[in-house]
Amino acid sequence: MEKEYDFLVLGSGIGGLSFAIKAAELGTVAVVTKKSKVESNTNHAQGGIAAVTDNNDSFESHINDTLKSGAGLCKEDVVRFVVTEGPERIKELIEWGVNFTKEGDNTSGAYDLGREGGHSRRRVLHAEDLTGREIERALIEKAALQKNITIYENFFSIDLICKSKLTGHKEEEDRCLGAYVFDVDKNIVHTFRAKFVMIATGGSGKVYLITTNPDIATGDGVAMAYRAGAEIANMGFIQFHPTCLYHPAAKSFLISEAVRGEGAVLKLKNGSTFMEKYHTMKSLAPRDVVAKAIDTELKKSGDEYVILDITHMSKEFLVKRFPYIYNRCLEFGIDMAVDPIPVVPAAHYQCGGVLVNPFGQTSIDRLFAFGEVACTGLHGANRLASNSLLEALVFTHRAFKKAKELLPAVAKESLLIPPWDPKGATESDESIMVSHNWEEIRMCMWNYVGIVRSDKRLERAKRRIDMIIREIEEYYHNFTITTNLLELRNIAIVARIIIECSCLRKESRGLHYNLDYPERDDVNWIKDTVVKKD
Ligand code: SIN
Repeated sequence: MEKEYDFLVLGSGIGGLSFAIKAAELGTVAVVTKKSKVESNTNHAQGGIAAVTDNNDSFESHINDTLKSGAGLCKEDVVRFVVTEGPERIKELIEWGVNFTKEGDNTSGAYDLGREGGHSRRRVLHAEDLTGREIERALIEKAALQKNITIYENFFSIDLICKSKLTGHKEEEDRCLGAYVFDVDKNIVHTFRAKFVMIATGGSGKVYLITTNPDIATGDGVAMAYRAGAEIANMGFIQFHPTCLYHPAAKSFLISEAVRGEGAVLKLKNGSTFMEKYHTMKSLAPRDVVAKAIDTELKKSGDEYVILDITHMSKEFLVKRFPYIYNRCLEFGIDMAVDPIPVVPAAHYQCGGVLVNPFGQTSIDRLFAFGEVACTGLHGANRLASNSLLEALVFTHRAFKKAKELLPAVAKESLLIPPWDPKGATESDESIMVSHNWEEIRMCMWNYVGIVRSDKRLERAKRRIDMIIREIEEYYHNFTITTNLLELRNIAIVARIIIECSCLRKESRGLHYNLDYPERDDVNWIKDTVVKKD
């Protein structure tokens, strides 16, 4: 059951679809997505896209805000090209049909620009408070018009296929030839062969107990790339979003930073403000500062949550600017025009990932990565809010240009790829192992590898995760695969990589805070933590 394409794209968010739309002019494209095509991390992005589109803004200002937020670890050349190439990519998105919100009731004039933490001015283009959904809509409509694109829904990528695995020879530079993909509905595994494989599978928020991410965010791309031998970097920098709704019935509901951008203030339950003790930008300080401040205050007070107060704004304004957030809060009995919103920090964004060069190329030949799954050097130790969609657009375009340049020289690979071998696996009668380990990993990561870490906590986490990985591997080889098992295998590997990167970094910087090394060490640690399967 081998399928053959010029491009195999894993993931259907902003990175996967925008690449597919461009690559369709060069050849055939398969887009493989483990759920429905709309269900991506992109679809859940509320805030928007940061870019310099206003005459009063400047590239230098956006560059400086990004560098400051990244706490000394951004690659400045990457920051410069992402910021300066950004407006062209935004223009393209608008040409493809994305409707960003305009100022006031004006539908033909200037775009309404939002503000978020760490930005020194308003520069975030948004579509009300459902920016990701609007982008996803436009991209899916555009992709549907390209006859060269085939989208496979409910197809779960299990593992990459690399030349070294087939020949048994360790190569100086390995080459990616495709992937084994599980057709969930038919319960069979297909071989996808391609000249280029692009990983655009998003992040890994589900590694943590409390996350703003949707259920699909199980780090599949990082886990697959790691197993294939690619270099993975900076996975210790997990961004905790300061304001996830605290309500027993509200699973993962994000209260966008744009709400603070419009003047919402963080307070303790007793109504007193606290952010002035931590940063001059107060509630609009960079995310690492705000999340750590909330964590500190909660530990001090013993409260379960802090509150976000925007009751000074009119209901009319809030309903117009934040229709989605306003209505979701109302479903939980919170009228944000009258009631402060209870919030807690939650795992939100993976700043590290599969290490790539400025064209999205990984350390394995013909394997690219872009979007949250990739570590490009833009975010450094802490991503500036709303820079991620911009990064995905700029990098997919660069990857497209690189693939276009390389394609004519890529001959059809003659190497025989053996079909997927289930190796005598049988149906499991012990699925409890899967659900138990899911919970244990997420709890362990939340308790020991969260906002505040220590060597002892990291060691404890490492021991537990290693044990779980051994258990999962044994189970994986004996029983038939299910999506739950595949995801469990992936979150376990990603958890292990996060711990490994965190253990390597003997300092505190940006999103990584270790009580045993509380200071930033610019002499020894302005470098990435890179890990690779030996
Ligand atoms: C938000 O709306 O607060 C999230 C935006 C982002 O993470 O960039």
